[in-house]
Order: sequence, then C-alpha cells, then structure tokens
Amino acid sequence: MSHLFEHEGADGKGYSQPDPVAPVDNLQIPSSLVRAKLPRWPRLSEPEMVRHYTWLSTRNFGIDTGFYPLGSCTMKHNPRINEVIAQLPGIADIHPLQPEHQIQGTLAIFHEMQDMLGICAGMDAVTLQPVAGAQGEFTAIRCIQEYFRGRGELGRTKVIVPDSAHGTNPASAAMAGFEIIEIPSREDGRIDLDALRAVVGDDTAAMMITNPSTLGVFEPEIAQAADIVHEAGGQMYYDGANFNAILGRTSPGLMGFDAVHYNLHKTFSQPHGGGGPGSGPIGVKSHLAKFLPGPVVKRRPILAGDQLTSVNKEWWYHWHQPENSIGKVQQWHGNSGAVVRCWAYYRRYGRELKTMSEHAVLNANYLRHKIIEEAEKIGVRHLFADGAPVDVVKHEFTISMAPMKEECGIGAMDIAKGLLDMGYMAPTVYFPLIVPECMMVEPTETESKETLDEFAKKFVEVLQEDPDVLHNAPVTTKVRRVDEVYAARNLTLSYPFDE
Ligand SMILES: Cc1ncc(COP(=O)(O)O)c(C=O)c1O
Repeated sequence: MSHLFEHEGADGKGYSQPDPVAPVDNLQIPSSLVRAKLPRWPRLSEPEMVRHYTWLSTRNFGIDTGFYPLGSCTMKHNPRINEVIAQLPGIADIHPLQPEHQIQGTLAIFHEMQDMLGICAGMDAVTLQPVAGAQGEFTAIRCIQEYFRGRGELGRTKVIVPDSAHGTNPASAAMAGFEIIEIPSREDGRIDLDALRAVVGDDTAAMMITNPSTLGVFEPEIAQAADIVHEAGGQMYYDGANFNAILGRTSPGLMGFDAVHYNLHKTFSQPHGGGGPGSGPIGVKSHLAKFLPGPVVKRRPILAGDQLTSVNKEWWYHWHQPENSIGKVQQWHGNSGAVVRCWAYYRRYGRELKTMSEHAVLNANYLRHKIIEEAEKIGVRHLFADGAPVDVVKHEFTISMAPMKEECGIGAMDIAKGLLDMGYMAPTVYFPLIVPECMMVEPTETESKETLDEFAKKFVEVLQEDPDVLHNAPVTTKVRRVDEVYAARNLTLSYPFDE
C-alpha cells in the first residue's frame, strides 16, 4: 500500500464535521493565525482509511499477538475490563477544567490511587502527574533539590548511581543539574557498600537505585546502603520500574527510601509498547510532600451546601496545590486514562496483587532453569553464561551470549533476530551494560507454563542455527533487519512534502 499522502484514492473524505455554530467569518481569528494555504489532508474515503490503519496494525507485534519477554519493560497482559472502565462517558468525556462537583467520581478514583500507591510503597504523599517513569525520576529529583535549597544545603550537588542503573537515572539527575557519580557493582552484580562509602559526603544529594536491580537480583544490603547515604545527609531514591517483583511483599519505604517513582504501565496495566502512553506517579516521605507538582487530590468531610453525588458517602474530593510545589511537570493532571486503567486493575485484584508479584518471580525463575535444562539436554549450555551468578532471581534474569560470540561470532543481537523468526518478541539486548552481550528476559506473571516451555525449547533451537542464517535473520517478519543506529539518528516522523 502507498503512503497516505501518495494515495490518489477517491475524491472523498473520511470525515464529517458538524456545521459551525457561528459563521466562520465572524469568529474573529487573529490574521496571524489564519492559514495561508488549505491543509494537506490525505484524500481518502472512510473505507480506504480503515484499510490503511488495519494494514498498519498487521505489521506490528504486540503482547496480544505473541510472547513478549522484553526485560525491564514488563510487557504484561492488559485486562479488557480496564478499557471498558476507562471508556465510561463519565470518565472519558470530562474536561480537566470542569468544576469539582461535576467530577467527584474521577477525583475519588485519583484519591484512591494516590492512597493505594502510598501504602504499597510505604510513602506518605503521591502525585499522579508525571507520565513516564523517567519523568517521575526527574520530578522526584527536583523535589529533593528544592528540599535541600530550602535547608540552605546548596553544596549537595552530586547524585550517586550504580553502574547497573537504567540510563534514565543519570539522565534525569543530570537534567536537574546534578553531577553524576557512578559506582561499580560487585562481581555478583549487587551494590558495593565499600564503593558507596568511598563516594558519599556532604556534597551527596541522593542515591538512585532500583531493587531488584536491573539484573533482576534483589539487593539484600539495601537498608545498609540507605543508612550510609542518610548518615551523610543524602536522600534515597527508588526507581520503581521493577516494583512488579516486590509489590505486596516488601516496600521501598521499609528499605529506607525517601522518594520513589511508579511505572504504572509496568506494575499495574496499561498498553505501553512503542514508547507510550505511560504514567509515572511519584511517592515521597512527608518531608518532601510540600514540593510535589500539583494539583493532587485531597478529601475532607462533607459540609452543608456541597453539591453531593452518589460518590460522596462521607467525603468531598478536591484539588490541592502543595505549598512549595516545584510546579507542573505535565499539562492538566497527568495521563488520567492510564491512571483509571491501573485503578481498575488494582480494584479487580486487591490483595491478590501479592500473588501477581509471586507469579512474576516464579515464572522468571522457572524459565531461567528451563532454558538451562533444555540447553544441557542438547549440549549447548556452554554457549551462554549467567548474567548474575545467583541461585534465585526476581522477576527477570540476564544471560550473556559472550561465550557464543567468542566461539562462532554470534552475539545477543543475532539471537534476538533469530527469535523474531520463531514468532517471538526478542528479549531486551545489550542492557544492563555491565553484562557483556546481554539478553534480559522478563516473562511476566500472566504467561502459562506451556508458553514458557515452548519458548525455552525455541531459544535453544536458535542457538543451534547456522551462523549465516542468524546473521541474516529475521527473514519471516514484515520488516527485515534494520540499521537501528541509522534509524535512531535519522528519525523521520513527518512526510517529506516537495515544498
Ligand atoms: C529500571 C528502569 N528505570 C526507569 C525506566 C524508565 O521508565 P519509562 O520508560 O516509563 O520512562 C525504565 C524503563 O524501561 C527501567 O527499566
């Protein structure tokens, strides 16, 4: 099919608009804003348009089409009931500027989400505003910065990150103006307390770390790390991207953290392939609460004169601007559709959420051992090594394809492309950076034993494939191997019109 704009198609149009309420000439649009030329809409009828988007969707791979073990991204099933709830007219058709008495239901949902997230993470206050994990990191680090400014501790200019950190951690802190101090991990991928002690001081603003780490390994010495940072006067920041592994079992608050971001799209549910849309609320301990971006939702007992709805049994919900807010980080109130979907998910599972994290961990450990078992059966175990030499991982695990690269020139990327030909989404490759030729596998809790068994078999089949075939893979997908560096550096998102 040709590109939308190249399609000569019918002279029709795939849209219809109501007649304007006032004659367009009377709208008094400032002349600087009036178009000089008519817009270049594609000339397509409705069926042609429908065909185009349906065709595009068939070129995609998603969690609804197959197994998607993309480590660190937590590509889990999104129950359809969430969509039904998010699309209810009382939720989907409201405007962010509507008066509070008309949106008590949505405010109640937001309030419950803030509450629930605070309890799960052991935090005192939550804002739902950031729309991605990375934005949550930046927001929380800015709150920490304002906290120190308020105390006159202007010399706290450094943020410590382990070398296993996700790239967004140092990037967010650097965007806020901090200097990044990277510390090496131990042999087993865990935090090195001596390396931490060597760098903390009165210039330390915070340490940013995720637990379980990006290697899928739990940090048993996290409380000691928190003590070291706190004794030096710094703050502990929890990257919540791996919260799916511990939800209901322990919490960042118990581990000694002061601030956390949640990736709602990973821990709860919200379709998030291809970069969006997400939701990255943050939670903080009480000393940071007044810096949160607003508005947040608060509630108070009902008063005479409130315009009550069926939602208002006991409480009236209202917007609240934190006292020393760092300001907005997102328009309106964040990604409200994502918040509602995640609220529906949490409401559906309630206390069973603990089982979710248990199953995520069980599936990761099962798959890890199954791959090893299958590889041993056919004598290819020597082709890959454990990313971290631990007996038990959390919700994901890493393997290094360095031995295979050494033996026959086949690296993580070739294996990943070979898996695409087997009908799977590939695991994450080349992250974390401390594992050479890394593949990071995260099956999530919703996959069945059959799916995991089948994947383990196919994975070792790929290891046996002819190197020439793997260098050329994938051959069965709609798009063959692309030059990813070129694509990233030369991103073209608009149609190149002649003029
Ligand atoms: C460990 C970790 N931290 C932070 C992030 C950033 O989250 P987001 O993609 O929502 O910005 C990710 C995303 O993959 C991650 O895996």
